[in-house]
Amino acid sequence: MKEKEIKLVYTEYNDLAEMSEEDRQLVGKAIEAGRKAYAPYSRFQVGAAMLLEDGTVVSGANVENAAYPSGSCAEKTTLAYAVSNYPGLKPVAIAIAARNENGLTGEPVPPCGNCRQMLLEEEHRNNTPIKVILYGASRTIVVPDSEKLMPLQFNRDQLIS
Ligand code: THU
Repeated sequence: MKEKEIKLVYTEYNDLAEMSEEDRQLVGKAIEAGRKAYAPYSRFQVGAAMLLEDGTVVSGANVENAAYPSGSCAEKTTLAYAVSNYPGLKPVAIAIAARNENGLTGEPVPPCGNCRQMLLEEEHRNNTPIKVILYGASRTIVVPDSEKLMPLQFNRDQLIS
């Protein structure tokens, strides 16, 4: 028997001015994208902006449905758009921002498990890290690659091993 540990190293910013211009702009686009969410049920509007390797930015928001599980998260909407419209371009970063009825959340909103799984697959198939920037009005977290959000993950390796 052996106890093991998985370590997550991430960066926290209390002031967006400390962040790179590129990351700050991506956060701004995620905030903007959240305004276009269709979230009449949860009233929780999430926006995501994804940076592709050539500098293209695509964004998306959560889209809810009366049949609740049919809805789509902002990250998944955005990733699907990027993959289907820019198949030759690798995503290198995604910023996520959310607002509730009181405005932008103070705390960063991490992607749900389903969205982590989607990001992970994209990262693996391109062999290129996707940086995850989680905006919160009081602190913003930057995780260097999506895989870090999914320890002990299920991926295509399990299908063939
Ligand atoms: N949501 C996202 O868009 N991204 C996440 O990572 C977490 C949750 C959406 C789904 C739903 O429309 C609303 O937020 C409340 O869960």
